[in-house]
Amino acid sequence: MIINEKTQFVSELNQEVKTVVLQNRKHTQVTITNYGGIIMSIKTPDRRGNFAEIALGFDDVEDYLTSDYKNNCPYLGATVGRYANRIAQGKFTLDGEEYTLNCNNGPNSLHGGPGGFHQKVWEMTTFKEPKRTGVVLSLTSDDMEEGFPGKLNVKLTYTLTFDNELVIDYEATTDKTTVVNLTNHSYFNLSNMQSDVLKHKMVLYADKFTPKDENDIPTGEIVAVNDSPLDFLMPRQIGDRIGDVDGKGYDHNFVINGFEGDLNLGARIIDESTGRSLEFYTTEPGFQVYTGNYLDGQFERGGVAFNENYGVCFEAQKFPDSPNKEHFPSAALKPGETYRQTTVYKFGLAD
Ligand code: BGC
Repeated sequence: MIINEKTQFVSELNQEVKTVVLQNRKHTQVTITNYGGIIMSIKTPDRRGNFAEIALGFDDVEDYLTSDYKNNCPYLGATVGRYANRIAQGKFTLDGEEYTLNCNNGPNSLHGGPGGFHQKVWEMTTFKEPKRTGVVLSLTSDDMEEGFPGKLNVKLTYTLTFDNELVIDYEATTDKTTVVNLTNHSYFNLSNMQSDVLKHKMVLYADKFTPKDENDIPTGEIVAVNDSPLDFLMPRQIGDRIGDVDGKGYDHNFVINGFEGDLNLGARIIDESTGRSLEFYTTEPGFQVYTGNYLDGQFERGGVAFNENYGVCFEAQKFPDSPNKEHFPSAALKPGETYRQTTVYKFGLAD
């Protein structure tokens, strides 16, 4: 069901922006705006039927447009592109041409650069089918926007199913060879927003990860997680060994097990205090696990400050800096080809 559709004029953009609230028979509610393709809210019942927010975000679109938010952007719930994660020095070579991107993260380009897809106004339409409802968002990114070659047409479908899944299907085509890596940057917190996520239990279906340097750029190695703080092959609390990680908490690319381009289970989290669980599936070869290490309480909703580790993101992706690493999965997209990516977040209660 679509239980609410709203259009509002946003003065900062001098444009109208839409928001849509989807709901399924399990009473899950998902709010999506065409500004940045952002998931503003996801509400699900806990084991006592207590219906509460499980994603970090704001109730008003205007809150994503303040200068404080844009200057210290945590990408809450955003659609990230044209290249999610980092490209070293904002440079890469494709078909013998060197391209230079707009940089926004020390020496690197992060999440598509300062003018990435997370702050574009997308076209949006809704659809209703007997067992699913959703929205279709589309966007054209110009040739050389943020430094990326090729005019890219992007289509993004959010579907809320009867089976309590939020399915995100991405498609993109280009008129010149380019690189594409699209993702969703939702931060999940299953605790009725009562605490950070350090006590959530997590399993990662990833035997390997890609180590990184001091600028968060992969060294190129692909290493087994065994017995390291990145070993979540068996369920354990996120906070268990977070202090042993180099840097500030988890912000690492994991290599999903069994990658063949179809949907694979990447991660599962459970919050024992509420009984909620979340599963993350993707068709991508990798996913970033990011534990909200740079959240510092600057942003809040309903009196709940988004402090450090207040959410965990599972960002489906090619590997970071793939355009500069021959042996990493290729992010190149040629004219005539279609980029496709599906991510599923499945909401539930632990047994
Ligand atoms: C990155 C972090 C970054 C964050 C921004 C994550 O995807 O991996 O390093 O700080 O996005 O919110």
